Amino acid sequence: MRPLSLLLSSLALLLPAALAANNAVPPPPGVAFLYNANITVGLSVDVGQIPAGNVSVIPVIGGALIGPKISGKILAIGADWGLSTPQGYYYSDMRAQIRTMDGANIYVQMAGLMQGNDGLIYMRTTFQTGSKDYWWLNYAFAFGTMKASGTGFVVDMWHLTGGS
Ligand SMILES: *[C@@H]1O[C@H](CO)[C@@H](O)[C@H](O)[C@H]1NC(C)=O
Ligand SMILES: *[C@@H]1O[C@H](CO)[C@@H](O)[C@H](O)[C@H]1NC(C)=O
Repeated sequence: MRPLSLLLSSLALLLPAALAANNAVPPPPGVAFLYNANITVGLSVDVGQIPAGNVSVIPVIGGALIGPKISGKILAIGADWGLSTPQGYYYSDMRAQIRTMDGANIYVQMAGLMQGNDGLIYMRTTFQTGSKDYWWLNYAFAFGTMKASGTGFVVDMWHLTGGS
């Protein structure tokens, strides 16, 4: 072998080991609790059967949320546009409107899939608000669980915090 190709091939042998040694798995981000919410719903509206399954709209008519950094009520604006598939999955597509105790208006959008027998829908969640007090919610990476309860849904929400 010529010196250059010898050098390259020994580098190629060394590289994976070097990567494994220097690129340790990065520390995972932290998780902070955001809120618990009870969402009250009204009578659902059947959209009917679409190619993917059955769509029914469950209107949001109120509710409350409590958490360490955000508390307030849920306005009678929004709904869950749910899709039930023939395979037994339920896709939730919920939009709702939060009014915090201190008067900020926050649009919340949750989407997720119920795929187990535990009745939990795992929700990816985003927020939009112009409030400077809650500005951080615009870029929060939030996720939670939603479960049907007597009069609506119970939601527990978390968000990622910086890697430690
Ligand atoms: C939701 O309802 C449960 C059960 O009644 C209650 O313990 C909880 O405090 C309620 N949460 C909110 C945010 O009102
Ligand atoms: C969709 O609705 C139709 C009519 O009510 C029903 O026969 C069917 O079982 C439903 N399918 C699903 C996946 O829920």
